[in-house]
This record gives sequence, C-alpha cells and structure tokens, in this order.
Amino acid sequence: MRLQDRVAIVTGAARGLGQEYCVALARAGAQIVAADRLACTETQTKVQEIGGKVQTVTVDVTDDQSTQEMAAQALHAFGRIDILVNNAALYGGLKSTPFDQLSEVEWDQVMAVNVKGIWNCCKAVVPAMKRQGKGKIVNVSSAAIWGGVPFLLHYVASKGAVFALTRSLARELNGTGINVNSIMPGYTLTDATTSLVDPETLGGLQQSIVEAQIIKRNAQPADLSGTVVFLASDDSDFITGQAITVNGGESHH
Ligand SMILES: NC(=O)c1ccc[n+]([C@@H]2O[C@H](COP(=O)([O-])OP(=O)(O)OC[C@H]3O[C@@H](n4cnc5c(N)ncnc54)[C@H](O)[C@@H]3O)[C@@H](O)[C@H]2O)c1
Repeated sequence: MRLQDRVAIVTGAARGLGQEYCVALARAGAQIVAADRLACTETQTKVQEIGGKVQTVTVDVTDDQSTQEMAAQALHAFGRIDILVNNAALYGGLKSTPFDQLSEVEWDQVMAVNVKGIWNCCKAVVPAMKRQGKGKIVNVSSAAIWGGVPFLLHYVASKGAVFALTRSLARELNGTGINVNSIMPGYTLTDATTSLVDPETLGGLQQSIVEAQIIKRNAQPADLSGTVVFLASDDSDFITGQAITVNGGESHH
C-alpha cells in the first residue's frame, strides 16, 4: 500500500471532504489523526470499518497552543507525522453577503480559520517532519479563486491566501524534504455546499456548474481524494509549491 505506516493528520475531519480524505488515506495504508473542533466519532467509525487505525483529536486551528497539542497527540499515538492535510475551514454555513455588508467579525473569523489555521498547523508539524527528513503538506484551497465568486469575498480571499502561502512555504522549506502543495477543488457535493444557498437556487447553480465543466456530472467527495493521496505519497516527491485543480475541467491553470 502506498502509504503503509505513514501517519496523516487531517484537519476538519469530522464531516464532508475531511472525512472522505481520512478514509482514502487509511485505505492507502496511513494511520489517521482525525482532528476537528467537532467530534470525529463518525469518521473514526468509518476508518475502523475498513480496518484502519485512527486517533481523534479535538482542535481549534485558530489557536496555536491547540495545534501544538494536536501534533503532540499525533506523536504520542503513532510516533511520527508524515502527512498534514490542512482541510479545516469556515465554509459550510457561510452566508452569501455583498462585500460591503460583511461584518468585520465575519471577515476576521474566516481569515483566522482558513489562513491563520493553516499557518498554525504547519508550525506544529514541521519540526517532526524536519527530524524525519521528509513530510507532505497538502493545503486545501479552492478553484473558486481562479474565477472569483460574488458575495463570498472573505472566503475566496482566504483561499487565495492559501494558494500563495503554499508557494512561499514550499520555497522556505527547501532542503528539508518537506513538500507543500495545494488542491483546488471545484464545487463538490457535501452538506456544506448544499447549505450555502436555498434549495431553489441550488438546482440551477449545480446545473450551470456542470454545464461549464468538460466532465458533465456533479463532483463527489471521492473525486478529490485520489489527488490528496497522490500528493501525500512518494509518487509526488518531485512536486512542490504546486496547485492541482480538480474541477472536471471547469477552468484550466
Ligand atoms: N465542498 C466544496 O465544494 C469545496 C470546494 C472548494 C474547497 N472546499 C474546501 O474543502 C474543505 C472542506 O469542505 P467541506 O465541504 O467538507 O466543508 P465543511 O464546512 O463541511 O468542513 C469544514 C470542516 O472544518 C471544521 N472546522 C471549522 N473551523 C474549525 C476550527 N477552528 N478548528 C478545527 N476545525 C474547524 C468544521 O468543523 C468542518 O468539519 C474546506 O477547506 C473548503 O473550503 C470545498
């Protein structure tokens, strides 16, 4: 198995895409640290059902101390950290809002989770990866940054920051054996995406997205996990600072 004996931390692992990544990484042989501010009980069950090893951790990625404790718990449970998937974000539940009506609190919360959270998690795991002489960091950005999305300025700006910090960190970690890449998912069906708009708008939105794609169907979480497993594996050892767009060909970069 591609990830046999590797240890992978996935943030935002309680539901949605994070849960899917945990199962896919476990299927590839990795031992999983499922971390979220919510309970990861369902994810734990799904990983165990396929014979995987999993440790659940409660973390608030906006809190430096909390992410340090997450890394410490991963090391305590499994003795090493090979992979970090920075998937946690404020996404589900965000309200479409004109840019000049967003509150400062909403703006700051999105930046704190989606950008500072990734910085915190990287700071927490890089020392262990450096000691091991190898590591894989996969940051979850969004294909929304290529075309922009109206009424979600804070979210799209935060994902643009994730794209940029991925490049900079990849360069800064030159010579450490740590690869830093990002995945740019297109619109993918999760509870979070279906909660973003009202049910009437949802059908039309999905139809317009599918029409713009080369591959004419809705993306499912499993459509993304192969890229995450690839970026977490030795198969991507010569790839760093890159962004891989997984959106059925809706846009090209
Ligand atoms: N679903 C899509 O279409 C899509 C498209 C592009 C990018 N993305 C990105 O993929 C990721 C997952 O998306 P999803 O659809 O599963 O969304 P989601 O909202 O269901 O998942 C986000 C997870 O992050 C966790 N989280 C939020 N704040 C946290 C904090 N402070 N500390 C720890 N955990 C925290 C949440 O509890 C949740 O489990 C997000 O980064 C999202 O921006 C999703």
